[in-house]
Amino acid sequence: MKVGILTGGGDCPGLNAVIRAAVRKGIFQYHDEFIGFLEGWRGVVENKSIKLDLDAVSGILPRGGTILRTSRTNPAKKADGIDRCIATLKAHSLDALIAIGGDDTLSVAKKLNDAGINVVGVPKTIDNDLAGTDFTFGFDTAVNIATEAIDRVHTTAEAHNRVMVVEVMGRDAGWIAIQSGVAGGADVILIPETPFDIDEVSETIRQRHARGRYFSIVVVAEGAKFAPGKGGGELVTQAKGVDEFGHVRLGGIGNAVAAEVEKRTGFETRAVVLGHIQRGGSPSAFDRVLATRYGLGAIDMVHHGEFGRMAALRGNKIISVPLSEALASNRKVSQDMIDVATGILEPLNAEYAAGK
Ligand code: F6P
Repeated sequence: MKVGILTGGGDCPGLNAVIRAAVRKGIFQYHDEFIGFLEGWRGVVENKSIKLDLDAVSGILPRGGTILRTSRTNPAKKADGIDRCIATLKAHSLDALIAIGGDDTLSVAKKLNDAGINVVGVPKTIDNDLAGTDFTFGFDTAVNIATEAIDRVHTTAEAHNRVMVVEVMGRDAGWIAIQSGVAGGADVILIPETPFDIDEVSETIRQRHARGRYFSIVVVAEGAKFAPGKGGGELVTQAKGVDEFGHVRLGGIGNAVAAEVEKRTGFETRAVVLGHIQRGGSPSAFDRVLATRYGLGAIDMVHHGEFGRMAALRGNKIISVPLSEALASNRKVSQDMIDVATGILEPLNAEYAAGK
């Protein structure tokens, strides 16, 4: 078969491992031929591709980023964008396309599949918020990076009697914040799922210091919001405008929280924004294995004719689910994980703050 591969949306560690696995199994076991479209859907719209053979994927397993590069191009937002994609795919006489991406990339994959193109999806986002799968690759690496950063921030917070606020990624879901916050022993974790009351947060830190602690660590997801009436209810953004999928550019909540905590508690407070450090560099061993399994699953799906579907991890098995299931909702932090965090954290509530 002749198969195309693309990586779309924000990059994350493990993209190359997916490409490598699909190409190696495709060549060794199915005698496939591969091309890779460059820069996500832009490469399909503009017909920019490279040959993907065994040499092209040699040595890429531990490399971050993606050898195909990526973009947030949305063909549906361009005149004839979808038709141009179909024309490119037909011009290459492709039997199937493997689209590796998050909900934006996979929404275009679904449109093309509905238009008669054979598409298989692979779930990618460090935010871990794609429905239909237990884990997306890249997330584990991001959590490890954030946890190491929290560990480092701990020692400087302790040395200076400071409150340190660590802003991590997580646009709609707080998976990175809650996992790294628990792993790093944070005192307060703020996630997009639950708007927070800054008075409660500050009072909780004050109470903690009143019982003898002299530093605190707050982890905040970039998509977390002040509760309405307590500073906004709005997302804190870095720039006006939206990308081609309608997303604002988040960033700044860490500094906003730090300023408000310092104002309310009088404790010296600093913010650290981890940003794209969480997305860069080599994938963890877990992500290398998961991404490899997704790549193998995707090429098997191509040969089983499982189109319009996404490779997914359920329990410890790679299965396939309809793309529509992956796109139906955003996967929020589970109640199980919230219970883990609330079990271990300073109680963040008004009664505790009032000393009752
Ligand atoms: O969607 C994944 C993500 O990493 C979000 O957590 C973050 O808001 C966004 O991408 C950043 O996107 P960009 O790299 O385009 O600034």
